[in-house]
Amino acid sequence: MKLAQALSRIAPSRTTAITDRATELRAAGKDVISLSVGEPDFATPPHVVAAAKAALDAGDTKYTPVAGTLRLREAAALHFRRDLGLTVTPEQVIVSAGGKQAIFHALLATLDPGDEVLIPSPWWVSYPEIVRFAGAEVVDMPTNAAGGFRITAEQLEAAITPNTRWLLLNSPGNPTGATYPAEELRALGQVLARHPQVLVMSDDIYAPLRYGEGAHATLAVECPDLADRVLTVSGVSKSHAMTGFRIGVSAGPEWLIKAMARLQSHSSGNPASISQAAAVAAFEGPQEFLLDWRERFRARRDMVVAAINAIPGLSTPVPDGAFYCMVDAAPLMARFGDDEALCLHLLDHGVAVVPASSFGGSNGFRISFAADEARLSEAVRRIAEALK
Ligand SMILES: Cc1ncc(COP(=O)(O)O)c(C=O)c1O
Repeated sequence: MKLAQALSRIAPSRTTAITDRATELRAAGKDVISLSVGEPDFATPPHVVAAAKAALDAGDTKYTPVAGTLRLREAAALHFRRDLGLTVTPEQVIVSAGGKQAIFHALLATLDPGDEVLIPSPWWVSYPEIVRFAGAEVVDMPTNAAGGFRITAEQLEAAITPNTRWLLLNSPGNPTGATYPAEELRALGQVLARHPQVLVMSDDIYAPLRYGEGAHATLAVECPDLADRVLTVSGVSKSHAMTGFRIGVSAGPEWLIKAMARLQSHSSGNPASISQAAAVAAFEGPQEFLLDWRERFRARRDMVVAAINAIPGLSTPVPDGAFYCMVDAAPLMARFGDDEALCLHLLDHGVAVVPASSFGGSNGFRISFAADEARLSEAVRRIAEALK
């Protein structure tokens, strides 16, 4: 059957392909440790689950405003102020079915064929696919481990053309953990100030997972003069282990929020009412446990980084945020050919990781360390064994 041309421009998610293969192997009785998915292994906090149950019992089961309940948009405004230092009104906030939907709607609402979107690579898998689906061009901005997987102001200036419509910035980043300090954001902001046609997606969904000193830095705060063209994307999926609830919250100029709501009104409509009630509890409830989670992630990160760097042929920098390590395996390419073959080899030895090429990188793989400590150390032991 004929499919839409727009669909032919996007590839199925390759991270899902590896996860599916791991599931198949498991079904065949093999023990596979999956370090390929991007979600915390912790249980959703009990007070959040209780809020979802209470919403059900209260009959909170009907349509809500398309952009989310006022209660949740107020709670999201509190989150943006408290956790990102960004002051916004509820009118500048939209609630969507996960951060992913917000990104999808923002890009679809603003891109035309011929528009260019700058994406630092390695990138989160969905960015280029959404851009291509919208009919626009992906402009790759390669980064490397030596540069902390961050773009520079010079690189940005050189990449911008009159057709540039968006820069997609993700800090802390998936898949590299790249985290931009305030002064680098300000340097990028100075470049952006000279190019008023460029919008910026500041995807801060991993903001609570930073391992360095000091507060989280975000573009809309560091460069307030850009406020009319920055969309800051956040949510509860990663921070509060609520991936299944599908709630993202985004803050931006009202013109963009309204455009996204217009599209949302004809796609999914409002995000699920029960999930919205749960997200209110996540933002307004206790936050202290997030620090404990972060320390557990930090300990796992340190363990994984040390173990990987001890394996001949593999190396990884210490990621500053999120829960991923981008491992370089270039010295092993002569033996395996490419990183996909390497990942399939590791899968045969009971560990699922994702090839760097899925993220626009090369010669390596991404490890998610959002898995329990015992499984993680067994996984790195298996990787070492597989590469002997
Ligand atoms: C960088 C980044 N942005 C956005 C998302 C979307 O998160 P969700 O739609 O689950 O809220 C993800 C999830 O993997 C991500 O890694």
